[in-house]
Amino acid sequence: LPLPEETLDPEDWESLRQLGHRMVDDMIAFLRDVRERPVWARLDDPQRARFREPAPRVGEGAEAAYRDFREQVLPYATGNLHPRFWAWVMGNGTPLAMLAEMLAAGMNCNVAGIDDGANHVEQQVIRWCAELLGFPTTAGGILVSGGSMASLVGLTVARNHASGVPEVRSHGLYAEPRRLVFYGSREMHFSIQKSVELLGLGTDSLRKIPVDGELRMDLTALAEAIARDRAAGLKPAVIIGTAGTTNSGAIDDLAGCAALARREKLWFHVDGAFGAWAALSPRLQPQVRGMELADSLGFDLHKWGWLPYEIGCALVRDDALQRQSFDFTAEYVARTNHHGGVRFGEYGFQLSRGFRALKLWMQLKADGADKWQRLIEQNCAQAQHLAERVRGSSELELIAPVNLNVVCFRYHVPGASEAQLEAHNHALLDKLHADGRFVPSSTTIAGRYALRVCVTNHRTRTADLDALVDEVLALGRAR
Ligand SMILES: Cc1ncc(COP(=O)(O)O)c(C=O)c1O
Repeated sequence: LPLPEETLDPEDWESLRQLGHRMVDDMIAFLRDVRERPVWARLDDPQRARFREPAPRVGEGAEAAYRDFREQVLPYATGNLHPRFWAWVMGNGTPLAMLAEMLAAGMNCNVAGIDDGANHVEQQVIRWCAELLGFPTTAGGILVSGGSMASLVGLTVARNHASGVPEVRSHGLYAEPRRLVFYGSREMHFSIQKSVELLGLGTDSLRKIPVDGELRMDLTALAEAIARDRAAGLKPAVIIGTAGTTNSGAIDDLAGCAALARREKLWFHVDGAFGAWAALSPRLQPQVRGMELADSLGFDLHKWGWLPYEIGCALVRDDALQRQSFDFTAEYVARTNHHGGVRFGEYGFQLSRGFRALKLWMQLKADGADKWQRLIEQNCAQAQHLAERVRGSSELELIAPVNLNVVCFRYHVPGASEAQLEAHNHALLDKLHADGRFVPSSTTIAGRYALRVCVTNHRTRTADLDALVDEVLALGRAR
């Protein structure tokens, strides 16, 4: 045996303790002062080049590694911490959950099936989510990386159910003589299509149903598509409703989807990545009514929920069906007395799994769901305020209805063509991004380019949105 034997524990615990305290102090100050910095900063070429240094064979020590983090990484955060970040759909994270992540990593639990504390925490937060969203608490569930993975879990169970679970597991798609068909709105998220592709069905199996003026799936067109496919000898299998589309926050008629699915004996999946959480608010809940009837429901906690990345959840109404899709046997995972926890590997694809449940558990315990409800209502009220400012200005134009927290609008130049409006607003967005004071994103809805503001931000103040409007007007006029 070569001596001395080594370990990754520090030689000097006291120095590491001090470094750890500094890290905590630095990060808390970083979060506290976020408003004083630009939303984001871009790396320049010399900084990029530093990331091409070869793998270190000899370590530089924890102090130096932390210095490198502070110099090379920390100043170039994504931007979503900031009160004026409204691009795509991103949450801010929270200081408490940051600390919870440290505790979880310290424990380094593998939440796979051991009857340990972490296993019970995950079981409990899944039940909490079901309870808060009005879903049966007897449902199967698993925490996953995010909304995309949650849909993959739900749609895997859906596909297997449609073809017969043992058959599809042993014969794959050869078990099914007829092509399965899945249906969602033209506005559904691309992760649904990725799931359908991964499930071996091919995009030809996914029908993108037209939407109405509110950007909600047209249920007449949906029923017609199902009838057409049946008549053609195909096998309609799954309706996917969206609770809060990425583009505009539109919410499909989920009760209508559920009724149609029941009538046609189809699986009903809801992608509620952020919009599912509207269910927390008695005022907003009617918009997502019907979600509780879904066979499977996917949602995030790193969008609304505001927890640090990554965390999402898949719920499946029939716990046994979920397990049948993913269960496994192998001699090296034979049960012992210590295994009595939920075997989360039987609820999704992963075997080894981190303790992402802890940040949710601690944040909810600390704040209570009523606070989340108030924050969701606050974000929606802020979006309505922005929409009012847009409606109140002859120079601005609203591009989509505002249901939840997403506002799509643009600077309007009278007499300009669509192409000119797009070019003008695109340039305006580039200027907003370049000076780093406001970060909305953009989208195109029914052929019309729009600036897109999505408020899943617990730090935004209404005055931030007023400042954005003033800036858009100033940039829009300065042609
Ligand atoms: C409606 C919808 N579904 C799914 C997703 C994907 O979620 P994630 O990025 O957590 O995988 C998003 C992301 O924005 C979304 O808006």
